Amino acid sequence: MPFYHKLGKIPPKRHTVFRKPNGELYSEQLFGTIGFDGMSTNSYHVHRPTMVKEIKGQYSVKPEIALENHIKSYRFRGFQVKSKADYLESRTIVLTNSDVNIILAAPQESMTDYFYKNSDADELIFIHKGSGTLRTHLGNIDFKYGDYLLIPRGIIYQLRFDDKDNRLFITESRRPIYTPKRYRNWFGQLLEHSPYCERDLRRPDTLETHDELGDFLMKIKKQDEIFDMVYASHPFDVVGYDGYNFPYALSIHDFEPITGRIHQPPPVHQTFETDAFVVCSFVPRLYDYHPDSIPAPYNHSNIDSDEVLYYVDGDFMSRNDVDAGHISLHPAGIPHGPHPGAAERSIGKTKTEELAVMVDTFKPLKVTKAALEIADEDYHKSWLESSH
Ligand SMILES: [Fe+2]
Repeated sequence: MPFYHKLGKIPPKRHTVFRKPNGELYSEQLFGTIGFDGMSTNSYHVHRPTMVKEIKGQYSVKPEIALENHIKSYRFRGFQVKSKADYLESRTIVLTNSDVNIILAAPQESMTDYFYKNSDADELIFIHKGSGTLRTHLGNIDFKYGDYLLIPRGIIYQLRFDDKDNRLFITESRRPIYTPKRYRNWFGQLLEHSPYCERDLRRPDTLETHDELGDFLMKIKKQDEIFDMVYASHPFDVVGYDGYNFPYALSIHDFEPITGRIHQPPPVHQTFETDAFVVCSFVPRLYDYHPDSIPAPYNHSNIDSDEVLYYVDGDFMSRNDVDAGHISLHPAGIPHGPHPGAAERSIGKTKTEELAVMVDTFKPLKVTKAALEIADEDYHKSWLESSH
């Protein structure tokens, strides 16, 4: 996060003597990104964070690609992805390229047997259904419906769910995910025109410090493999930290929509940015107030980006036959737009209750085998009038 956060106990000066009550030194760890140029955090551990006991094995979680090159619009029925007990097993990659995986997950159980770390991708978890606590080695954040959880690469975490009915839409990004630069001033402070401000970003507020030795299984994702590593100390043993690199939450319900007299373009919905894709939030808002405005979007060609829309809740004005949990994929290279009747239907409407998350990628997305199992193969013809 581009602002400073401090939690727990830290010494007044970096890289100086800081002792436990028993006189031993705490183990200091600088957690940097982009070499030593990006955001970093300085944390103090009860035990050395380097005590690997065993590397038990590794297995592939590489997605199986069904469509490598294609130009077909798709609709995927996301809630048809089956629930699974385990969080990692439930993660189903539906769309992928070298920058990003778009993942659906419906885990039923909290993570208790292992800790998880994604070593080469930031994870943006959108909570469509469910509530609970994100536990991390840098502190905990409670979550509920509508939250984005941004977990930078390398953060060790567990998800605790309150019950079994959970639906997650996860964007796993090999490129760092930031708040949009145009929302920030040269110091990093969010500006007045930003649709959210620092008060809306929830930082870790509770630090768990476990002084425990034993066998602790850590599942580490690296280059499409999961490595099972056994550590000798509890991964959540930090007594304090400070810096800029930590997980945070933002509720989509705290995103303040920007509206106008005529239809506003998609960038007004932008919530996060990377150099490979953007994430936008479509939230309940008043419609355009020019007397002749057409609130439905016009046809458009995002000629050099694939558009993924994940429908969360409300009425999806521009689409016919779209339900919560559906994903539409509108690939680069061809135009798309409102469904037949949607433009006419929208005239005179004063507001929308729609809630959706959009991911626009600059490189084309490949469709996985898992995605084709929940795909509507006729969606690409859905713009024809019924008489055609
Ligand atoms: Fe679009």
